[in-house]
Amino acid sequence: MKLYIETLGCAMNVRDSEHIILELQKKEGYTLTPNLNEADLILINTCSVREKPEQKLFSEIGYFAKNKKEGAKIGVCGCTASAMGHEIIKKSPHVDFVLGARNVSKITSIIHRPKAVEVDIDFDDSTYVFADSKKSSYKALLNISIGCDKKCAYCIVPFTRGKEISIPLDLILKEAQKLVENGTKEILLLGQNVNNYGIRFSTPHAKIDFTGLLRELSGIRGLERIRFTSPHPLHMSDSFLDEFAQNPKICKSIHIPLQSGSNQILKSMKRGYTQEWYLNRIAYLKQRVPHVGISTDIIVGFPGEEDSDFEETMKVVESVRFDTLYSFVYSPRPNTSSYSWGDKKSVPKDIAKERLNRLQTRHKKILQENSMEELGKIHKVLIENNKITSNETFSEGRSDTNRLVKIREFIDMGEICEVIISQVKGSTLYGEVLCR
Ligand code: 5AD
Ligand code: SF4
Repeated sequence: MKLYIETLGCAMNVRDSEHIILELQKKEGYTLTPNLNEADLILINTCSVREKPEQKLFSEIGYFAKNKKEGAKIGVCGCTASAMGHEIIKKSPHVDFVLGARNVSKITSIIHRPKAVEVDIDFDDSTYVFADSKKSSYKALLNISIGCDKKCAYCIVPFTRGKEISIPLDLILKEAQKLVENGTKEILLLGQNVNNYGIRFSTPHAKIDFTGLLRELSGIRGLERIRFTSPHPLHMSDSFLDEFAQNPKICKSIHIPLQSGSNQILKSMKRGYTQEWYLNRIAYLKQRVPHVGISTDIIVGFPGEEDSDFEETMKVVESVRFDTLYSFVYSPRPNTSSYSWGDKKSVPKDIAKERLNRLQTRHKKILQENSMEELGKIHKVLIENNKITSNETFSEGRSDTNRLVKIREFIDMGEICEVIISQVKGSTLYGEVLCR
């Protein structure tokens, strides 16, 4: 039996797909195929954070139905599955089952139940031990919590992934240990709100917070690098940032979602912090780790956003000089509180697009300037790829500050080497190996 799977959305979805694949391989005998037309089971792991991918879902299902092998099943998984539930089967007769995010552990049973819909966002698989593989990649994903308790006005996630539950420490440590034994050197910890770890468990559990979890994980021998995504700016205590700064296994790159720089917009987004708080945390972080790489998410065109609010966002961008900036035009999502405001305060599309454009153009320039400052710096790079193109042969990997670095020689994948940045082309960094 062959499985074809398409994964949209965030790292959490990528990890869910990995779990789905392993469960189906180990328990149902499936093998993966990249060819749609030879698959017996076709899965789409969906994202619903913005409207567009959700709209594309039904045309995609139509395409799969037309090009699939006779008798092949189609399943819709992930966040759109949670958000739409039975409606998906009603809208498309081609869909055989619907499996919501947070119900992933039911994959091996649902494939045998025609037209089943499992989308319970209160379902708790935080203690489920998924099938694992004997070989792991150098970089691996590891869930530390499910769901999200925040109620950001624009965000659909609490309605697709339910309330926040932390995964017990011993399960996380066991999984991390296994990954390392199977070859992993770097682990990316995943949660909607990682630095809220330990707030709620579904079984009795000793008190622990995210800083404690980081300390425990860094005790694993052979685990060389730890990353995490995403932390919330509100929970960035000094003690957490101190651990981030001091712990040599924690990579010095961090995603701190800003969303907006305007206090009025942050308030109506219900983000729980102000521009001053955000900048204060950045200042503390940069004081502790001057070379830290910072990435962020920004939404433009949130209802009520005036030009002056957007200028506040630009002010923060100028001040922080993010290395990576993910930016989006606001997209109204069902169930969320900003959705219920209707068109009352909505920002015209062309104005929102203009703001997005200005933000992205400015960020591109900042990234180039940041890149020039990399010249002569020394980074530890984990090699992830060897590539041959028509004019170059090189290895590439990420610095602990999360910059992609190209090295013009072949180095074994999985090796961590010390590299000096010797050339910058646009925002691409080239380096030479100092020490392997
Ligand atoms: N519209 C636009 N962007 C959104 N995001 C979340 N919800 C929405 C929405 N309704 C963005 C946020 C979040 C990232 C994953 O997606 O910036 O951090
Ligand atoms: Fe991930 Fe959010 Fe998309 Fe769900 S809706 S896949 S949690 S980005």
